[in-house]
Amino acid sequence: MSYFRKKKIDEPKSRHMMERHLTAKDLIVLGLGAIVGTGIFVITGTAAANTAGPALSLSFVLAAVVIILSGLCFAEFAARIPVIGGPYAYMSVVFGEFIGWMTGWLVLCEFFLAVSSVASGWSGYVHGFLDGLDLPFPQALSAAYYPAQGTYVDIIAVLVLLLVTWLVSLEAKQALRLNGIMLFVKFGLIAIFVVLGMFYMKTDNWQPFLPKGFGGVLQGAGLVYFAFLGFDSVSMAAEEVIEPQKNVPRGIIGSIIISTILYIIVTLVLTGMVPYTSLNVKDPVAFAMRFVGHKNIGALISIGAIMTLLTVCISMMYSLSRMVYALAKDGLLPQSLARLDPKRHNPKRATWILGVLTMIFAGIFPLQVLAEITNLSALVYLFMMAVGILKIRKDMGKPAHGEFQVPLVPIVPILSMLMCVLLMTQLSKATWIVFVIWTIIGWLIYVFYGHAHSIMNEEIKEEIR
Ligand code: ALA
Repeated sequence: MSYFRKKKIDEPKSRHMMERHLTAKDLIVLGLGAIVGTGIFVITGTAAANTAGPALSLSFVLAAVVIILSGLCFAEFAARIPVIGGPYAYMSVVFGEFIGWMTGWLVLCEFFLAVSSVASGWSGYVHGFLDGLDLPFPQALSAAYYPAQGTYVDIIAVLVLLLVTWLVSLEAKQALRLNGIMLFVKFGLIAIFVVLGMFYMKTDNWQPFLPKGFGGVLQGAGLVYFAFLGFDSVSMAAEEVIEPQKNVPRGIIGSIIISTILYIIVTLVLTGMVPYTSLNVKDPVAFAMRFVGHKNIGALISIGAIMTLLTVCISMMYSLSRMVYALAKDGLLPQSLARLDPKRHNPKRATWILGVLTMIFAGIFPLQVLAEITNLSALVYLFMMAVGILKIRKDMGKPAHGEFQVPLVPIVPILSMLMCVLLMTQLSKATWIVFVIWTIIGWLIYVFYGHAHSIMNEEIKEEIR
């Protein structure tokens, strides 16, 4: 079977084309909207308390190095192959359809579970907020399926995804505009936290700096890696971007650099304000403000976090629907998922189907499980992307003038692969098992559906004629 038939870069103009209206600035907003969220607002607390201690900023540096190396590889692909579909399209061009599909499947997994994880984390914040107001909530509807504890469905996570799906299905530009406003709120609150928090930092809180040695830092990096995911959402919008060769790499690198700087500063301030042993809470950033006596600012930060997590969901749901659209457009998933809404020119049907599926996952599964598999899916496909850079350079040479290129090839892609493997080794066995099952499902879909329905069959037939 021709599993390794390759996708052409100059695809025939499709009847499903979208309008080009997004600029580099829109993409940085889209990227930051998807990146800055649960990672910094929720995961930092437990990561500092249980793994790296005050050295959590080093975990962020390490995770940032892994992401930057991957981001460079990603940006070259985005410049050279500026079509919708992101990694799926890149890998199809370089390694052929099967590897392309499997990469796309992992990205789907990453985004799908990230949307579900973030909704689940969001629900935790809302519950914390309601508890603070002494408002009762039915136990059965308060968390993931766990009958022994009397919980069956996390209804708040389901409802937030209903809202997000509706917003994304309205119109991309509208959803992203809302995203832009929320991003402004989010950064404003983080700025207040940093500026005010600096006055309460004590160097004593940084002693011992490495309570669990470098192993703790590494373990922390495996966790906070989640905080950087979402940068890849930028590339999924390629078909809606003006001058994608220039603007997509700018969007990717720009959003990674901004979030890296932000995370390092926030973590330094956070661990300087509160002894790391006290940070094992769901809302560490708001908690730190309460800890130093600023209750109102703490409450304000809680509200900000609630808004922030909403923007992460919007950006990721937007990208997820474009990803499915691209796969369906190429026949690897049912064609009906590639149908554009006649009025809004967006994949409304795919958005709603994904929305309902994420609602089911976020409602039933706990955050921890969802987040770990998200990380592993991303690490595996970003490893593949680094391999892809070596292959595309071998097959097609360097990028054309004006297109972004990875510096120091092959050193950077090889380093990227090694760093991805290093973080993969930090994840649990259970995560690996679920991951293998997910991968097998993806493989079966290709063998029993995608391979037979791919539009490449038509292209090959036309070539033979
Ligand atoms: N990076 C995203 C977050 O932190 C997934 O929530």
